Amino acid sequence: MAIIIASDIKNLQPWINALKKNDPALEVITADQVKDPSEVEFVLAWNYPHGLLKNYPRVKTVSSMGAGADHILADPWLPENINIVRIADPRMSEDMYEFTLAAIMNRLRMLTAYREMQVRGVWKKKLYRRISDVRIGVMGTGAIGNHIAERLQASGFVVSGWKRSPASSAAYKTYYGTVQLRNFLAGSDILVCVLPLTPETEGILNRENMQMLPKNAWIINLGRGAHVVDEDLLSLLDSGHLDGASLDVFRDEPLPSGHPFWKHSKIFLTPHIASLPFPESVAPQIVENYRNTINRQPLINTVNRDQGY
Ligand code: GLV
Repeated sequence: MAIIIASDIKNLQPWINALKKNDPALEVITADQVKDPSEVEFVLAWNYPHGLLKNYPRVKTVSSMGAGADHILADPWLPENINIVRIADPRMSEDMYEFTLAAIMNRLRMLTAYREMQVRGVWKKKLYRRISDVRIGVMGTGAIGNHIAERLQASGFVVSGWKRSPASSAAYKTYYGTVQLRNFLAGSDILVCVLPLTPETEGILNRENMQMLPKNAWIINLGRGAHVVDEDLLSLLDSGHLDGASLDVFRDEPLPSGHPFWKHSKIFLTPHIASLPFPESVAPQIVENYRNTINRQPLINTVNRDQGY
């Protein structure tokens, strides 16, 4: 019995070390090292080759190596009766908040613009906006989004949150469902998207919805690239309705070299680094789910296949 890692992550050694630190007797191997596929019960996956799980007739659990499980749910050959689990890590939520804060503050204090002016030798003061001047809308207030919204609110921002279904009480103003989406968007000077990717949320940042944002709004997308309709975003940036976008996730990653986002003056892009999974921090919950799988015990951080997250 072993944990099988199936992933496009180049250096898996930190993962193997962290997992073994939790249980030195644990066998951790990569998919290409599997000798007897019929023994595989637990797969730890990130962007694995779809169809791989068909090789494992007794697989019981697939665990995402990150918070999102969309890369697993998109597998057309995903076996019917297996458990899907994901990572829920307070450190990841805090990292997402810190990145969001940095992206917002960069915008309010125009740091990137000053760097560009420095390169051109330009000395020019610009009027800045303050934390209390902008309304932040957090789209997707699950564990990560709720944490971001609470931390931003505690930092003095005016925050509202939106999710699919009604939220239990929150420290910030909440909206839910399609009917309230318009009002939520209309009150978001800076929209932070941390939604999970599901058939319902794919393309949610389309022309119609982005036009509901106030003029000169800014979008920060930390969810998935497929939340954004790329051409709609480009056209609303070019028409001046949107003032800018900070994008950390893309439909294709790495972002293809000829993609118009690379050179767009209103787009600030980063290579999917808002939060990186830290193997040391997440290994205990992976090992717990591995043990629960082989002992036929209930799992933690399970993904609801129908909801898609
Ligand atoms: C990162 O995008 C994750 O899903 O953890």
